[in-house]
Amino acid sequence: MLILGIETSCDETGIALYDKDAGLLAQAIHSQVDMHRAFGGVVPELASRDHIRRVLPLLDECLRCANRRKSDIDAIAVTEGPGLAGALLAGASIAHALGWALGRPVVGVHHLEGHLLSPMLATPAPSFPFIALLVSGGHTQLMRVEALGDYRLLGETLDDAAGEAFDKTAQLLGLGYPGGPAVSRLADFGVPGAVRLPRPLLNSKDLNFSFSGLKTAVLNVVRRIDNTCEQARADLALGFVDAVVDVLANKSMAALAKTGLTRLVVAGGVGANRQLRERLAADARRLGVELFFPPPALCTDNGAMIARAGLARLERQRAPTAAFAVRPRWNLSEAV
Ligand code: KG4
Ligand code: ZN
Repeated sequence: MLILGIETSCDETGIALYDKDAGLLAQAIHSQVDMHRAFGGVVPELASRDHIRRVLPLLDECLRCANRRKSDIDAIAVTEGPGLAGALLAGASIAHALGWALGRPVVGVHHLEGHLLSPMLATPAPSFPFIALLVSGGHTQLMRVEALGDYRLLGETLDDAAGEAFDKTAQLLGLGYPGGPAVSRLADFGVPGAVRLPRPLLNSKDLNFSFSGLKTAVLNVVRRIDNTCEQARADLALGFVDAVVDVLANKSMAALAKTGLTRLVVAGGVGANRQLRERLAADARRLGVELFFPPPALCTDNGAMIARAGLARLERQRAPTAAFAVRPRWNLSEAV
């Protein structure tokens, strides 16, 4: 069974061909980062228009690469939500038009379910149940995952998402948009302990997060230091990364302890962060936890995770999405 995955929820057009038996055959991503950079963030209308231009050429590229034809596609998985309404509509209209023309079913996928199942694109793949740490530009959540569609929210951010904190810190440090990878690279040159920032909610009894105070703490240091001094900026970047990683790792381990589960799955753009991966790997070794990540290139938005989640949904006999629908706001716990 060959699944076409289409992701257009934000600023990346992701297309992939995933075969039930052979795995990922091809994937192509077009990032709109260069287009949005001048505005310091995603401009929804520009995003939608660009997705419309990109989907079919990327699909042709994938078909060429996998040596398949459109008629070989057995089903189409498309991000139904959450995300930017116009961007989702671009993907959904193309998916449904293709499905109609080819006579194939279309299945709508929850974007976060795509992230959550993305470690299944790596080997070994995690089995249920597990704790999932979802860390993206829009979400920071700890979920208890019993099975496909059985997601219980254990804790989440009360304000900014971890990725958002990375992006805002990058902006304060003059590193541009999106900032995660740039802040991470700059932090590599920082002196450990030179700047110590607060760890919000680290000692709270619950599993919630808060990152907006950290952003203010970064701003206060930025005002104090000589922003032309590369070392001072690197020290601040490291102070920020250390604080975020410390909170994410501690809360993840607390979620495992609280539930008695022993598998941790990390997904979402911030899951590509090297410092976070290293810290979680060390904690997991120490505590006998099995740790699963998607391949780094599949941490950020992509079509492969949508195809994989679409396959899981089809295998569970979820009825294809008959009506053309998008859900810009959609809680994962409602994606049963
Ligand atoms: O999952 P994602 O691609 O999009 C959303 O669904 O939000 O996540 C994007 C976020 C951005 O905030 C970006 O700065 C962050 O992930 N990110 C990183 C890294 N790569 C991407 N943050 C820290 N370190 C990275 N290496
Ligand atoms: Zn995402």
